[in-house]
Amino acid sequence: MNNIILIGFMGCGKTSVGIKLSYLLKQIMTDTDRMIERQSQMTISEIFDKYGEETFREMETECLKKLLQESDNRIISVGGGLPMQSENRVLLKRLGKVIYLRVTAATVCERLSGDMSRPLLQGPNPEQKVRELLEKRSPIYESVADIIIDVDGKGFDEILGEIVERTEGKTE
Ligand code: S3P
Repeated sequence: MNNIILIGFMGCGKTSVGIKLSYLLKQIMTDTDRMIERQSQMTISEIFDKYGEETFREMETECLKKLLQESDNRIISVGGGLPMQSENRVLLKRLGKVIYLRVTAATVCERLSGDMSRPLLQGPNPEQKVRELLEKRSPIYESVADIIIDVDGKGFDEILGEIVERTEGKTE
């Protein structure tokens, strides 16, 4: 399929980049977190609270399956933990070109300081959690990515320019 899928750690800019890219390329943008919230009529935090992370992960997989039935030529932004399940990585590859927006822990901590919407970062030491999770997840993000874009210190225009340049002619 011809979708462009944005993956990466919380706070890397998947949603903002996705929205701008969808305007630029005139393609519909879909965000798996928003899909899940719309379908369940709950926020991500409420889902974690009420049903736990495992149920949320199952919802993410269902989302990808649904997208495989419906979508093409879209920009799809996925939750930061979604690529951790191997089944999801297979589905991502089938959906289209996977772009990893790579960010450092320092930038994530700066951007998400005080954020209350990410249940995984609500513990006593969110900065350490960011570092641990990022270290564990980085090789997995890299393994599934067709294209890796380092986003630290770059503005939207530069990031969008790189995405367009590097995806042009490469989608099937
Ligand atoms: C998560 C990332 C969040 C959201 C949930 C879990 C994760 O999405 O799916 O809070 O495990 O990294 P964003 O990456 O859009 O913040």
